[in-house]
Amino acid sequence: MGTLFKNGTVVTASDMVRADVLVEGEIISLIGQNIDAASHEVVDCSGKYLMPGGIDVHTHLELSFGGTVSNDDFDTGHMAMAFGGTTSHIDFVIQPIGGSLHDGLAEWRAKSTDKAQIDYGFHMAVTDLRDEVMAEIPSLLDEGITSLKLFMAYKNVYQIDDTTLFKAMQVAADNGMIVMVHAENGDVEAELTPRLLAEGKTDPKYHASSRPPEIEGEATNRAVVMSGLTNCPLYVVHMTCEPAIEALRRGRALGYPVMGETCVQYFFLTVDEHLAAPGFEGAKYVCSPPIRSTHDHGVLWQAIKDGTLQHVSTDHCNFWFEGGRGPWQEWAKAHNNKGWVEFEAQDPTYRRPGKELGQGNFAKIPNGMPGVEDRLMVMWEHGVNSGRIDPTRFVELTSTNPAKIFGMYPKKGTLAVGSDADIAVWDPDKEHVLSVETTHMRTDYSVYEGMPIKGKPIQVYLRGKKIVDGDNWLGSNGSGQYVPRQAHAPIL
Ligand code: URP
Ligand code: ZN
Ligand code: ZN
Repeated sequence: MGTLFKNGTVVTASDMVRADVLVEGEIISLIGQNIDAASHEVVDCSGKYLMPGGIDVHTHLELSFGGTVSNDDFDTGHMAMAFGGTTSHIDFVIQPIGGSLHDGLAEWRAKSTDKAQIDYGFHMAVTDLRDEVMAEIPSLLDEGITSLKLFMAYKNVYQIDDTTLFKAMQVAADNGMIVMVHAENGDVEAELTPRLLAEGKTDPKYHASSRPPEIEGEATNRAVVMSGLTNCPLYVVHMTCEPAIEALRRGRALGYPVMGETCVQYFFLTVDEHLAAPGFEGAKYVCSPPIRSTHDHGVLWQAIKDGTLQHVSTDHCNFWFEGGRGPWQEWAKAHNNKGWVEFEAQDPTYRRPGKELGQGNFAKIPNGMPGVEDRLMVMWEHGVNSGRIDPTRFVELTSTNPAKIFGMYPKKGTLAVGSDADIAVWDPDKEHVLSVETTHMRTDYSVYEGMPIKGKPIQVYLRGKKIVDGDNWLGSNGSGQYVPRQAHAPIL
């Protein structure tokens, strides 16, 4: 006996067709018209869209960063993603400085294996490319890791130099891997920040002054040029502004194997309205690269339309706005800045440190914001309902393209016979208002607070098993699976 999704409209990156979808076990076994219900459990999808579960290839669950640890882990983060229609994601393993890539991988496996509720993969963020680490890179393929991430920013934390980037690209190219970059000139940022602070410019809005669009454009161009020289596939993460988009567009016009993503927040938030909000409110919106201007929003929508950008992710990395409650200093000392879920479980008022760490110094505000649950609803409302993109492009941007670029297709990223039955049953008429009050993310604010949306996943299936049914959670810890990925993925 299988599950038969009847009378829905199947949306893929190429088509929208009225069809029935039969799921047997964990995969789609048949797509057709008037499939006999036989002994199957029937899900009536009249008036609904059937879409492949969303894929978000840019998340940071339980990341140690900025003096604390991001709030959502492979438990709460997964539940929130699924309530938003996302069934797979790729998180960033961080190589510990002085350690090996496999040390980082072991850490991420320990964070994820028992908790995972949806499917997931790992990118490898290389922070310390010693010779032996360089030699270790090809062995990542045996672990199903095909993507290396390098930070051109965060000096003295994660930043690598150009030699390292160039060498990593050569090794990646030789092994059918892809290099991802956080493209900002970290050396320039490290000069600008202390100057601003010395001038008394300590409020959250000066975070944007310390990381102007030019330094994102410059670093993007540098990475694009290196990709052209090495013929290494390049994927620029969280692109925000015109100089960066222009650099990517130029590289693509030259035939370089370069691609890019933006994140949902970069279409909506501005320095003037959000980062410069009264008091310390702007800290909620501190992320790197910074949010920009309405002009840049237009540039990004255009890049989505004309195919310069391939994916819309979240860079989900959320911290309490009002964190640091309860005896957190003692806990941090005794537990080496770990075990925050246990700390918070002791008392509902306890919170790990968050954005308040940067009161009086914007450079100390932990970078990042919540978004995994909101991504598809916001993109549907402002992409599809507003007429900027059609449902097929929506599926392409939020599921199919990331599956292809990162070697998970067609297991993930489409509805096809033989694919995993990761299905979002989408009600285009369902209305909802995004709010911290209703979110499943571990957060005390929403960057989309009060945003009305029309169109929402009402049921979500992971490999044939229903994990979201309206407001009810049916998933379980440990049922999410690690997805090993294939090298030599296509350039889109
Ligand atoms: O502000 C951000 N983006 N935080 C997460 C780390 C990163 O740079 O992606
Ligand atoms: Zn980044
Ligand atoms: Zn990130």
